[in-house]
Amino acid sequence: MTSPAPLAASRCPIDHTTLAQPRDPNGCPVSARAAAFNPFEPAYMQAPGDYLRWAREQEPVFWSPQLGYWIVTRYEDVKAVFRDNLLFSPAVALEKITPATPEVMGILQSYGFAMNRTMVNEDEPDHMARRRLLMDAFLPERLATLEPMIRALAREYMDRFIDKGRADLVAEMFYEIPLNIALKFLGVPDEGAEQLRQFAVAHTLNTWGRPTAQEQLDIAHNVGRFWQTAQNILDGMRAQPDGEGWMYETIRQHLKHPDVVPESYLRSMMMAILAAAHETTSNATANAFHTLLTHRQSWDDICANPALIPNAVEECLRVAGSIIAWRRQATADTQVGGVAIPKGARLLLVQASANFDPRHFENPDDIDVYRESAVEHLTFGYGAHQCMGKNIGRMQMRIFLEEFVRRLPHMRLVPGQAMSYLSNTSFRGPDALWVVWEPALNPERSGSRQLPPPGAFFIGPPPKASIARSVVLREKHAEGEGLFRLVLADPQGGVLPAWSAGAHVDLIAGGFRRKYSLCGEANDRSTLQVVVQREADGRGGSRHFCDQLEVGTVLQLSGPKNLFKLDESARHFVLFAGGIGITPVMAMADRLKHLGKSYEIHYAGRSRTQMALLARLERDHAAHLHLYVKSQGQRLSLPAVLADVTADTRVYACGPDRLISELESLSERWPAGVLHFEHFNAEGTALDPSKEHAFVAQLKDSNVEIAVAADQTLLQALQSAGFDVPCDCNEGLCGTCEVAVVEGDVDHRDKVLTKGERQTNRRLMACCSRAAGQRIVLAL
Ligand code: HEM
Ligand code: FES
Repeated sequence: MTSPAPLAASRCPIDHTTLAQPRDPNGCPVSARAAAFNPFEPAYMQAPGDYLRWAREQEPVFWSPQLGYWIVTRYEDVKAVFRDNLLFSPAVALEKITPATPEVMGILQSYGFAMNRTMVNEDEPDHMARRRLLMDAFLPERLATLEPMIRALAREYMDRFIDKGRADLVAEMFYEIPLNIALKFLGVPDEGAEQLRQFAVAHTLNTWGRPTAQEQLDIAHNVGRFWQTAQNILDGMRAQPDGEGWMYETIRQHLKHPDVVPESYLRSMMMAILAAAHETTSNATANAFHTLLTHRQSWDDICANPALIPNAVEECLRVAGSIIAWRRQATADTQVGGVAIPKGARLLLVQASANFDPRHFENPDDIDVYRESAVEHLTFGYGAHQCMGKNIGRMQMRIFLEEFVRRLPHMRLVPGQAMSYLSNTSFRGPDALWVVWEPALNPERSGSRQLPPPGAFFIGPPPKASIARSVVLREKHAEGEGLFRLVLADPQGGVLPAWSAGAHVDLIAGGFRRKYSLCGEANDRSTLQVVVQREADGRGGSRHFCDQLEVGTVLQLSGPKNLFKLDESARHFVLFAGGIGITPVMAMADRLKHLGKSYEIHYAGRSRTQMALLARLERDHAAHLHLYVKSQGQRLSLPAVLADVTADTRVYACGPDRLISELESLSERWPAGVLHFEHFNAEGTALDPSKEHAFVAQLKDSNVEIAVAADQTLLQALQSAGFDVPCDCNEGLCGTCEVAVVEGDVDHRDKVLTKGERQTNRRLMACCSRAAGQRIVLAL
């Protein structure tokens, strides 16, 4: 049995006598809102991200007296807890969140119920040893064999209702296909969908729900029957252990390595995986269809461009995931987000809140199928326990959407239907999802839209190249010598994504992809503006954008993404721009002016005609603007300007390497965190196999070693070993591919870290930096 459920909820675990500032007149630090937090009331399930919005802003880590858990709501905190599975043990992941009464325990015992450690709640080092032995079946090449079966099932189930004009997609498709696929993957004989559904509901309520004492009795009988059914299935499989499927492989590994894959694991996993392998995917699929059909523009976008579907799946997993909260237990006194957490405390990590954190996602409340960072959601967990089946879930969701956008693009939600969910902390998916359409308009009836053969199917996170929206060049203004300001708009006149100061977009046209910082009016949602500098001797991208793009040209745009965020909390801001580096700096100045902050702009260029945006700067920021025009003999002296830097100054700079490196030298005397910069070229970051050496990367959290060949980047080696390390620029400019270093010297090649940060050897950019020696240990 897993350890008993948490203490009765009402007792506050905090020693009130040590509190300097109690939050409540009674001296209790639990605020009124924290005390009212109740994940079993309908509002939590309806919109968990919204339900916890107040906490993300005001009390990101709080004690919930009703649950007896610490609730963690911000992205960085949730991720940090997930990634440290020694300090935050997963042992409580399958614990009953509502303590069992003695009567319930008696019922469960009468069925021989002995749920114990599986994979998801196992501690190290046992967990990793087991995970490694059982990982093969999840590798992309093995999963590829499931694709034809998923597609055939999707078509067959759709055939059953396509002429009816109305369906409950949950009952008529999304529950059964993931169940079939899960059984096939596991090698388990079909036990009947209805019975398994009843069992899965009981298992969810038993583990993550708050049933009344009376309801618990019924649930306990169902859980007991589920346990027995799972044991009978397992015994049948063990009698013929040469069958195909993951559970058969597990049985064979148990016979070879009973110490790593023990009997109790087999028994517990047999039951747990029956629910985990299909409920998660059924729910995620229903949530995704609901999300996309509610945001019709997104649905229309994927119908028009099915290449967007893989990213739409990630965006739906972000905003409407099927696992919305997961659990850990502190193994020592520690802190999360600055809040003291005592040893033994239980934590509820609310991924559904973290996924809406504006500190990590731009415009988190918008559903944006073009969002490149969507894949960074935490719905699959993170770190050593990250979902092993994530690619099975993804591929099913992807195939279902591919089939629907071709065969029923005109489908709509039945208006006004209320969505209902099972009340629990963690598993979220609607009980039903009713849709309607006009069968006479089905494309296949008119033959107007023959089913095209699906493109090459890939397994894993979405390829970046597919995530781009069309925009039209609405205006093109010469801003000076070789400088063009491009004003871009949605071709249909729609709204474009919001962005914040420092954000950039990628423009894609004529085979070129280049990054440009945004510099328009931040509150204008109808256009995005960039300035392109024509580089006569460059690689051709800027020449193409300046020479070939005419007003009316349609091009592709990806982003916005912000890797140069403004820390708005500081007192005084010193902004530096060299040449075209003025674009993000002007956006920052606009924002600071709007906030009423103290700021100064120092802008250096060769001549006035080579300096962009001067008129606008002089109009809006004249009192704060200092120009250094070389042709007029004006020179910028950084030490003079930066004589009074204090801890609450922030220095932001965008410009050539010379400017940045001089600032870096000066910053050695400043408090940490003052200097922030963005380079605009990637010289010296490219891989040159003739000069590189191979090395080994040891991944500490995952207990895996990866060989990095001389002709490979560390990022490539990590990605081909199945680690979803995100990357954006691939040339050391953006910081997206950052990995924490535990041990070993780094040959830093990026343009993101400061000199001081490099010297500490705590972080590296995997797309370009390498081990200085033969070996490096990473926190992955
Ligand atoms: C673990 C979510 C589909 C098998 C997990 C965890 C989450 C999760 C949140 C815990 C992660 C952590 O503790 O860091 C999901 C979602 C799915 C999905 C949202 C669908 C959209 C699947 C499928 C399978 C599967 C289809 C198997 C066929 C597993 C296993 C683990 C796991 C074996 C334990 C991994 C470990 O502890 O090392 N999943 N899952 N999942 N999932 Fe999934
Ligand atoms: Fe941009 Fe590595 S992906 S720094």
